[in-house]
Amino acid sequence: MHTLTVDNLSLSAGKNKILENISFASSGGEITLVAGKNGSGKSILLKTIKGLCRESSGSISLDSEKLSSKERMRKIALCFQDSMLQTVGRTVKKDIQFGLENLNLRKEEIDRRLETTIKEFSLSPVADKDPVILSGGERKKAAIAAVIAMDEDVILLDEPLGNLDWPSAVTVINTLEMLKKRGKNIIIVSHEAEKLLAITDRCVVLADGKSVYTGSSESAIPYLRANGVFVPDVPFGMLRWN
Ligand SMILES: Nc1ncnc2c1ncn2[C@@H]1O[C@H](COP(=O)(O)OP(=O)(O)OP(=O)(O)O)[C@@H](O)[C@H]1O
Ligand SMILES: [Mg+2]
Repeated sequence: MHTLTVDNLSLSAGKNKILENISFASSGGEITLVAGKNGSGKSILLKTIKGLCRESSGSISLDSEKLSSKERMRKIALCFQDSMLQTVGRTVKKDIQFGLENLNLRKEEIDRRLETTIKEFSLSPVADKDPVILSGGERKKAAIAAVIAMDEDVILLDEPLGNLDWPSAVTVINTLEMLKKRGKNIIIVSHEAEKLLAITDRCVVLADGKSVYTGSSESAIPYLRANGVFVPDVPFGMLRWN
């Protein structure tokens, strides 16, 4: 199982410091939740880890080996906050297939993964539809499915529950728990902390591009509340959503 280490990561745009000295490590078989209010730097952190934005300083390593942005682009899967950005195929099925074809897999393996993914995410009713005409929730679920089908060891998900109805949110949460059991290294950005804390091993709370808390999910609650993330006033053990 692989450990992803984010070490002293900073990113500036001109004179603006967007991310400042962010450090945390995330192991295989664990889920890390990154939370914080709008504009705190969550999406840009994921894009920088993926290699889409260039850090000003700091590093990202997999098992102590520093990875260039090109290597990160290849080894790390990212599901965007805006699922429209991920839509390339004319149908949901083709979208999933396109990602798999880019991995140079054999046709039988592509077909197997395609079939499993469509079943696992209950996508049959929309499989032959154009993602552009789907609802925001249907499109989001299809985009997450396409990323998970790629079976990368490190999976980054930006607001995976955004727009999802309750059954779809439960499907996604159950899938994340299953992937965690399979040893995947998962980093989720979400402001819907109450739905995810129960399956999360670690929490990173961001405020103005800085990390103000890194540690266990249970101890994160006061930091989440102090930084604009709603967590209901119930005992930690009752936060389970699925
Ligand atoms: N490519 C970029 N270049 C310069 N500044 C950027 C860039 N992308 C984002 N920013 C700025 O970085 C800050 C953090 O943006 P980001 O999208 O990461 O926030 P967020 O925490 O994901 O917010 P939300 O909860 O609304 O999705 C914002 O002030 C934004 O304007
Ligand atoms: Mg965002």
